[in-house]
Amino acid sequence: MAPACVLAALLMSAVLDAGCNFNAAPQKSPREDLPCPSIVRKLPNLELKDISIDGLPYLTRYSLPTADGAGFCRYLERIQHDHEVKIEEGLVDMMGDYFLASQKIETGYFLSYKIRNRQIPQIILDGASSESEQADLFLKAIDSDPDAARKALLEKQIKDLSASDRKEGALKLIQLLLEKSWAFNPTVQQYLGSDNYHDDSYGFVERGLRTTSYSHMGTTVDLFLNSDVAVFPSEYKSTLQAARKLLPEKAKRILIIGPGLDFSNPELGEEIPQQSYEPFAIIDILLKSKRSDFEDIKIDLFDISPRVEQHWEGLLKSASQGNPYRLTLVVGGNRLSDEISYVTHFGDSLPGVVASEISRKQSRRPAPRTLDADSVTLRTLTIPASVVKKFHPFQGDLTTTDLEKLALENGGKYDIIFCFNTMEYLNETERALAGINIRESLVENGVFITDNRFETDSGERPQQPPKNTSAAKPIFEPSFLEMVTDVINAGRHMVIYRKGQK
Ligand SMILES: C[S@@+](CC[C@H](N)C(=O)[O-])C[C@H]1O[C@@H](n2cnc3c(N)ncnc32)[C@H](O)[C@@H]1O
Repeated sequence: MAPACVLAALLMSAVLDAGCNFNAAPQKSPREDLPCPSIVRKLPNLELKDISIDGLPYLTRYSLPTADGAGFCRYLERIQHDHEVKIEEGLVDMMGDYFLASQKIETGYFLSYKIRNRQIPQIILDGASSESEQADLFLKAIDSDPDAARKALLEKQIKDLSASDRKEGALKLIQLLLEKSWAFNPTVQQYLGSDNYHDDSYGFVERGLRTTSYSHMGTTVDLFLNSDVAVFPSEYKSTLQAARKLLPEKAKRILIIGPGLDFSNPELGEEIPQQSYEPFAIIDILLKSKRSDFEDIKIDLFDISPRVEQHWEGLLKSASQGNPYRLTLVVGGNRLSDEISYVTHFGDSLPGVVASEISRKQSRRPAPRTLDADSVTLRTLTIPASVVKKFHPFQGDLTTTDLEKLALENGGKYDIIFCFNTMEYLNETERALAGINIRESLVENGVFITDNRFETDSGERPQQPPKNTSAAKPIFEPSFLEMVTDVINAGRHMVIYRKGQK
C-alpha cells in the first residue's frame, strides 16, 4: 500500500484523503526488486545463516524459504509488514474503546444492542444520547484528557477528518470507529459472547494488535511464582513444585515480550493516562519471590508497537531527571477477589514506592444487568526513578527480529523471558519462528514463561466454526523446546518452556 498507511485506507470510506499519521512504524511494503533487507530497522532481523542446525527442520516443516538467505529475508519482511499494518488496526480498536468509555451507560447499551441486531428496550432508547450528544461527550473527554500524547493523537484524527469543524470531525471519527473498531464488530461481539470463546485460544490471530494490559496478567504470574502451592488444584501441585525448582535461582537478565501500553481504561476512560503496567508487575513479582535482586536485575522490554517504545523512552528521560512514574491500578467490579488482593500488595517489593490507600470509584460501565454504574477498586503508586531505570525498551517483532543479537548486544542472554497475551496474535508458522527465536536468546537453563502454548493451530476464529482444540500437537520436540509445565488455576493459565535437554 503506497504511500503506505492503513488508516488512510480506512478513512477512504469516510471520504477523506488526508495523510495519516498514527505514529506507527513505517508502513513500507517490502519491495521484491530491492536487495534484502530493504527496510532499515533499528534491530537486525533473523538471518538464515544464524538459525541453529536443530532449528532448521522446523523451517522446512513450515515450508519457509530455506534455499537462500535473500528469500528468507524477504519472507520475514512480509511477515513484519503484515504485523505493522495490524498495529494501526489495533489503534483504531483502542480508540473505539476510548470512545465507548466516554459515553453514558445507556449509550453503551444502545450501541451493543444495535450491533447485535437486537431489539433495543425503551428504557435504553430513552436514555441513550443522540449522535450529536455522543460527539459532545467524546470531545468533552478529549478536552479533559490528562495525557498530552493521547489527546494529540485523537485531535489529529479529528482534524484530518474535518480541517475546520471539530464537531464534524468528531462525528466522522465516531462513524469510522463504529465501522472499523473491534469493539463494535458484530461478528466479534457474537464470538466473544459465545460458548466457543476461550481466553487462551488463538482466536485473536486475525485481529489488530492492541497494546491493552490489565492486572490479570500480574495476578497470574504472582500466583504461580509466589503463592502457596496449597491453593492450586491437587492435579497441579507436584507439577508446579517441580516447575518452580527449574526456574533460575537468581535471574538477572530478563526480557518482557509485548509489555503493552494501555491506551485507555475500560472502567475509567480518559481519566487514566496511557500507562505501561506489566514491566513493574514483573520486577515486583521477581523481587518478592527473591529470584532476582534489585541491584543487578536488568529488564529489556521488546514490543512491536512504536508507541510502547516511545512511551518508555519518555519515562526514561523523565527518570534521568529524577522524576517518578505514576501508575494507577484499576480493578473492575466483576474481577476475581485474588486480583483485588494482588493489587492491594502490588509494588510492596519495589524499593521506595509510595502507594495511595485503596479507594473506590464509579465505573463508566454498568453493574451487570443494571443501568447503574459499577464500582471499581483503585490504587495509585508513585514509582521512583531508580526503578524506572531498570528497564530498556526496544522496538521489534518477536517472529523476525533477532532476539539473540538483541540480548548479546545489551548485556547477555536472558535468564527468563516473559510473554503474556501476545502469542495469540500469531499463526502457527509465526509461532514456530517465535519459538526458534526465543530459544536462541535464552541462557542454557533459561525459561520462557507465557500463557500460550507452542502448538499446532487449532484455535477458534470469529468467522469460522469451532475446531477441535484437543487435536493440537506441540510444534517443537522436547529436545528442542520443552514444555515443563502448563498449570491452570481459577482460569489463569501459565506455561513454562525451557531449552530442551539433549
Ligand atoms: C494485548 S498486549 C499484552 C500486554 C501485556 N503483556 C499483558 O499481558 O497485559 C500485546 C502486546 O504485544 C505486542 N505484540 C504483538 N505482536 C507482537 C510481535 N509480533 N512482536 C512483538 N510484540 C508484539 C503488542 O504491541 C502489545 O503491546
